[in-house]
Amino acid sequence: MIKVGIVGCGTIGKELALACQKRFSDQVTLEALADTDVSHMRKLQHILNPKPKLLTMDRLFRQCDLVIEAASKHASYEIAKKALAMGKDVMIMSVGGILGKEKEIFELARTHRCCLYFPSGGVVGIDGLKAAAIGKIYRVTLTTRKPPHGFEDAPHVIKHGIPLKNLKQEKVLFEGNAVSAVRGFPKNINVSATLSLAGLGARKTRVRIIASPHMLVNVHEVYVQGDFGSFYTRTENFPSEQNPKTSRLAILSAVATLERILRNVKIGT
Ligand SMILES: NC(=O)c1ccc[n+]([C@@H]2O[C@H](COP(=O)([O-])OP(=O)(O)OC[C@H]3O[C@@H](n4cnc5c(N)ncnc54)[C@H](O)[C@@H]3O)[C@@H](O)[C@H]2O)c1
Repeated sequence: MIKVGIVGCGTIGKELALACQKRFSDQVTLEALADTDVSHMRKLQHILNPKPKLLTMDRLFRQCDLVIEAASKHASYEIAKKALAMGKDVMIMSVGGILGKEKEIFELARTHRCCLYFPSGGVVGIDGLKAAAIGKIYRVTLTTRKPPHGFEDAPHVIKHGIPLKNLKQEKVLFEGNAVSAVRGFPKNINVSATLSLAGLGARKTRVRIIASPHMLVNVHEVYVQGDFGSFYTRTENFPSEQNPKTSRLAILSAVATLERILRNVKIGT
């Protein structure tokens, strides 16, 4: 049995915990939970059976084989670094927190012979991008459309005083690389970061961000061109019920990644 520890008992952490005890109960023991907010840990522990331990992060790392981070971009780098250094496998949801430090973290995984997993999250096309990266990739472009109110607190919008109220048609808010996109629109961070890690890196990954008064949901389009040809994907994400910032697909993708780790049959790239 693989001992799993989950750091972050929110929307994604809860679904992964339930999956450990239902879908994967033949291969996994949910050993422990950790969270900076004790009430979140207790609330999740309450609905689980058997009850996982509530531990500090360091103790959780020591007692588990697979550490799952579903907490925050401010925590993911430290969690990956410490858990890998202890020889543990790690799944990271807050991919944005790793961006810019990926060389160090990948090297830690290599030297300690551990696996580091980044689920595709709320974007589709990572499988094709990984295959394309075996050859030559010329271009990776992410276009994100959201309703205008979804951008009101974005640092880029505030800095440039971009008016978003009463938009009648689509407005391009940003065009540039993923490094600047992540800075100006931190809420988009995970999608840009995962695409960057799988493909050309954050400096060469192009990002367009569009406020669209016609959109009711968040839409991510990915265009990849390489020596294989090209592909285009479009994802229309429903928000999760518990946390509208997290898409339903991101939660399912986390559970599917756990399934990929555990099952003998692995379909897709
Ligand atoms: N990879 C992707 O595509 C993708 C998609 C959606 C969300 N995410 C990321 O996954 C993470 C979890 O998302 P969620 O919807 O479950 O969030 P959530 O807000 O529902 O839950 C986060 C939980 O983590 C806890 N937490 C926060 N900071 C912590 C820290 N430093 N240490 C320990 N616990 C901490 C919070 O108290 C909360 O219980 C977020 O960082 C989010 O940005 C990634």
